[in-house]
Amino acid sequence: MSEFKGKTLVLSGGTRGIGKAIITKFAQFGANIAFTYNNNEEEAKAIVSDFETNYRIKARCYKLDILEPETYKGVFEEIDKEFSCVDYFISNAIISGRPVVGGFAPFMRLKPKGLNNIYTATVLAFVIGSQEAAKRMEKNGGGAIVAISSTGNQTYIENYAGHGTSKAALEIMVKYAAYELGAKNIRVNVISGGPIDTDALRKFPNYEEIKASAIARTPLGRMGQAGDLAGGALFLCSKDSYWINGQTLIADGGSSFS
Ligand SMILES: NC(=O)c1ccc[n+]([C@@H]2O[C@H](COP(=O)([O-])OP(=O)(O)OC[C@H]3O[C@@H](n4cnc5c(N)ncnc54)[C@H](OP(=O)(O)O)[C@@H]3O)[C@@H](O)[C@H]2O)c1
Repeated sequence: MSEFKGKTLVLSGGTRGIGKAIITKFAQFGANIAFTYNNNEEEAKAIVSDFETNYRIKARCYKLDILEPETYKGVFEEIDKEFSCVDYFISNAIISGRPVVGGFAPFMRLKPKGLNNIYTATVLAFVIGSQEAAKRMEKNGGGAIVAISSTGNQTYIENYAGHGTSKAALEIMVKYAAYELGAKNIRVNVISGGPIDTDALRKFPNYEEIKASAIARTPLGRMGQAGDLAGGALFLCSKDSYWINGQTLIADGGSSFS
């Protein structure tokens, strides 16, 4: 029997891209799913119905704005009404569009508001979401937390300074969380991807250029797809990764060495 059967995953940003692929993987392995959406309520409800019908697990969706991280508390209170425990938490959601203006830009056009928004959505949302998850995991004897990062904090990506620096901060925050939550039997890790073909990347003005370069630089000869981080995320929540804590697992088809 799958170790995930009957366990509960909470994930932010499950309506599209990498988050949707991760919750689908966990649902296939029998986990119950509580996930958040921001704008796409209709899609979120369709996913709930699809999961409950096809995977026979419990699924629920909740509205969340990661630019208001404190609102995570209310979301977890709602989750408490439907799920008896939280076993895994994955901080995945990312902002795009207007809120990243001045944050997604060349260095000389960076502005505090856009940079702060990206930091809030990336680091502060991880902190508050993980605190709420950890309180529940502790009562349950432990759990696993995973943050989604990107290799744009290690290699140059045009306009990516705001995201790259926030992802770097996120990865250090994960190490602090891992150190302090270890005593509660809660492990905290990162899975980091290279460029992945999702809505977030398609909004980049130089999307076609990034795509061509990613294919050329990846030894496996293709662009990353939304599902390419799901297996790694599942592994970092599984018992098989019991001795991995405070680490970053890179899943990029080998492109970061090129
Ligand atoms: N794409 C890449 O190249 C890549 C590579 C490595 C790592 N990553 C990381 O992977 C994660 C997911 O990225 P993605 O490419 O899958 O993104 P995406 O396709 O743009 O999906 C973003 C998700 O976040 C939600 N969201 C957007 N604004 C929000 C807000 N203000 N508050 C709460 N939720 C919000 C969206 O919900 P709605 O649909 O309801 O708006 C959606 O579910 C991010 O952490 C990203 O940095 C991406």
